[in-house]
Amino acid sequence: MMARSTLKHSAARVAALFILFIQQLAASSAFVLNQRCAYSSAACQLSLESSDNIVIQQINQDNKDDLEEFSTFCIDIFHNNKGESDSVVSRKWKDIKLAMLQKAQMIDLSVPFNGNRSVFVARSCIDSDNDRLTEIIGCCEVIEERIAISQKQKSPRVRPIIENLAVNEEYRRQGVGKALLEACEQNVQTWIPFHDDIFAQVEDGNLKAKEFFMDNNFKVVYSDDDCKKDDLEGLAFSQTTITKFMLRKVLDS
Ligand SMILES: CC(C)(COP(=O)(O)OP(=O)(O)OC[C@H]1O[C@@H](n2cnc3c(N)ncnc32)[C@H](O)[C@@H]1OP(=O)(O)O)[C@@H](O)C(=O)NCCC(=O)NCCS
Repeated sequence: MMARSTLKHSAARVAALFILFIQQLAASSAFVLNQRCAYSSAACQLSLESSDNIVIQQINQDNKDDLEEFSTFCIDIFHNNKGESDSVVSRKWKDIKLAMLQKAQMIDLSVPFNGNRSVFVARSCIDSDNDRLTEIIGCCEVIEERIAISQKQKSPRVRPIIENLAVNEEYRRQGVGKALLEACEQNVQTWIPFHDDIFAQVEDGNLKAKEFFMDNNFKVVYSDDDCKKDDLEGLAFSQTTITKFMLRKVLDS
């Protein structure tokens, strides 16, 4: 789901990443991926009894701090699978790659986007007045991209697609993902131009996410076996080719 944000390779971005890489190497032994897992700290050890005490917020995309928190959360869920067999050196190297990936995502998020894009986060309420909220426990982005409605379609057109949908493991199966998805769907219906459908892309091995979307009335329209994914294992900064399903939902008017 991070495909869009991690696949663009403008010269400016490559240069920024290279500078960051040099900085990280210089600071190597002291380097830790910035405030990772802040959301799994004490504030989130609360038990969540129902989805009623979840708040969905739309992020102001001019607010760098909010974007940074969103990006840290996404990178941790989608890329930071802590291999138990990781040596100290490979862990450090992975941390450097993760930090660079986050930098790349921040660059993409900061560049003015020529189209509609909305970002939502979920937080849990600490008190009954909803005054105090936890750090992010879930997030989702919806953005306009050129998408074909079927594999045969020659001229894709601009359509909304769900990206970076993720819920902290401790809060899954409690309706948080569905609430984020609904926020995106409602938001899209306020966009100009008008859209009567919404899309999502899921890796072929991600059966839970596929079930999630299908249970929320998405249908598979085709599979694309030429999608790219950043590879965090190994030394090189490479990408692997993977297959993803494209799913579509017709929005109620
Ligand atoms: C996919 C994901 C966002 C779902 O979030 P969630 O908060 O657990 O989902 P919800 O509780 O709102 O689930 C709504 C419905 O979707 C379906 N569903 C959700 N997770 C499911 C699972 N693991 N297996 C089968 N169905 C599932 C169920 O019908 C569920 O309703 P139910 O709990 O009443 O049965 C979450 O599992 C996640 O963050 N996964 C890792 C990141 C990821 O893969 N993101 C998607 C990228 S394409």
